[in-house]
Amino acid sequence: MLKFPKNFEFGASISALQTEGHGCTKTGLNTFDAFFDKSPELFFNQVGPQLTCDITTYYKEDIAMFKTIGFDSLRTGFAWARLFPDGETLNEEAVIFYHDYIREYKKNHIKLYMTLFHFDMPLWAYQEGGWSSRKVINKFVKYAEFVFKEFHDEVDCFVTFNEPLVPVFEGYLGKRHYPGIWNPQEAIKQAYGIFLAHSKVIKLYRKLKLKKPIGVVYNWNYTYPLSNKPQDLKAAQLHDAYVNRGPLDIMFNGKISSLLIESLKEYNLLPPYSTEEIAIIKDTKIDFLGINYYFPTRVRQVDNIKSARWGLEEVVAEIPKTANVNPFRGWEIYPEALYDIGMTIKNEFHNIPWYIAENGIGVENEESYRDQSGLIQDDYRIKFLTNHLQIIKEVMNQGSNCFGYHMWAALDCWSFRNAFKNRYGFIEVDLTDMSRRFKKSAFWYQELIKNKEVHD
Ligand code: BG6
Repeated sequence: MLKFPKNFEFGASISALQTEGHGCTKTGLNTFDAFFDKSPELFFNQVGPQLTCDITTYYKEDIAMFKTIGFDSLRTGFAWARLFPDGETLNEEAVIFYHDYIREYKKNHIKLYMTLFHFDMPLWAYQEGGWSSRKVINKFVKYAEFVFKEFHDEVDCFVTFNEPLVPVFEGYLGKRHYPGIWNPQEAIKQAYGIFLAHSKVIKLYRKLKLKKPIGVVYNWNYTYPLSNKPQDLKAAQLHDAYVNRGPLDIMFNGKISSLLIESLKEYNLLPPYSTEEIAIIKDTKIDFLGINYYFPTRVRQVDNIKSARWGLEEVVAEIPKTANVNPFRGWEIYPEALYDIGMTIKNEFHNIPWYIAENGIGVENEESYRDQSGLIQDDYRIKFLTNHLQIIKEVMNQGSNCFGYHMWAALDCWSFRNAFKNRYGFIEVDLTDMSRRFKKSAFWYQELIKNKEVHD
């Protein structure tokens, strides 16, 4: 049995776009609306972002269920496109909605983390160039300023970005996010714009002298070399500089990896920047770090390195045949990486307070696990969470400053292109009548939170 400290926060996360759909107020379109309009066949069962669990309608019922489980805290976010549908005009209805929504968490004593950006780029912002446009970045800062001034007293912690580089990797080097093109030059420009936007928002927050903690949530798919061969160790360092520690270091404390800069120079990919911008980035300091952890990345050097068109093509990621993999998502299950993450934060990130902002398992066709009473017996989820919590406790025992754990997701959410293919929630959502029901894991988590104890 593992005992967690009394003040350790157990909770869960969700996101605005994945739970709100078009929702109870008017909203501007975002890139996933455009993506779905253009290629509905790419979305699982052709379900687009309009059909979610509709939390804007059902939030009182949902938050009451969160309270029943006993969440200490929860993370969701604001939708930029709902608050500023055209980028300029404030949607008063949305302001009223978010006040009511946040108040409901407060009434139920659930500490609230609010994210400013979780993959939900307003369409107008994309059309103006996305994060490579300084105009868009400045509008993002204005949106952040509005949020801080309007909601600071009610929100407990702010998060600038969730998994900041995922929309870049998936949209400009892959096909899961809009625009689904392959363009490293543009990807680097977008990534740089995100770093700048994050730093400008933090700068503003400090200028406003706001006191609630502000941080960033990063998906740390911890990098391991596939072998001890020198070229694979080198590949791992490069991968880390591009994907994990490199960007994290920039957003954590404005430290830019020289390996990353050298590699970008080699391929002529340095983005346009100014010394004033770099000074703002270098000045960034956050109060806490949220880590989303689902899987590690194991890499080796690509066979024909000479054919690489940019730095990341020198590296290839592979899942070893012997690895334990979630077959529904194709992600390796490796809780041990949390130990390495926790120790790296302790030793190299000034032991900053950190928490698991997302961790969970997505499973297809959970219906088949329903017992005669109608309860989904999601023992696989209980096992997954237990295994990860064990490692978290281990690294805390070594002095790593982990203060909480949020499971993804509080309830079944719509997901990017996968829609409702993989279910992640403690609470199932029946999309035919929008009814909600606890899964077995919700009762397990309720017990765990009550005693702050994990039974192994
Ligand atoms: C994280 C995201 O990457 O993983 C969530 O922050 C997402 O938004 C979650 O839903 C699970 O991934 P997926 O793609 O299976 O929904």
